[in-house]
Amino acid sequence: MHADSQPTPEQRGQQKTIKLLDKIRQIDGFWQQRVVAEMNDYQFKVVKIVGDFVWHRHSDTDETFVVLEGRLRIDFRDRSIDVLPGEMAVVPKGVEHKPYAGSEVKMLLIEPRGVVNTGDMTNERTAENDVWI
Ligand code: NI
Repeated sequence: MHADSQPTPEQRGQQKTIKLLDKIRQIDGFWQQRVVAEMNDYQFKVVKIVGDFVWHRHSDTDETFVVLEGRLRIDFRDRSIDVLPGEMAVVPKGVEHKPYAGSEVKMLLIEPRGVVNTGDMTNERTAENDVWI
């Protein structure tokens, strides 16, 4: 979106209202995260998911999930947590996790720019990064 020149606040999704669910409705497929705004070096990404993700970890960063619709389960190796609409959860850096949605979940992710959704690995769930909507 803004490869060579410095992005404007407008291009970074700032100084305007962002309707998260409207943005998610514009996404065609599941697991295709899209950036809606930036704050400092962090990005806000929306995504809809269904089914099982892959076990992964992020060596360099924590990761935040904010659920907008549906019931998200985040599996850890020693436990699982459920995250409901209006709730959020933070996954610590380096901790293995696997999101799971029994039925469709719409959510907001908050993480530093450049974070790959499958963490330290690449597979069929790896989404293109830094795609805006
Ligand atoms: Ni993750």
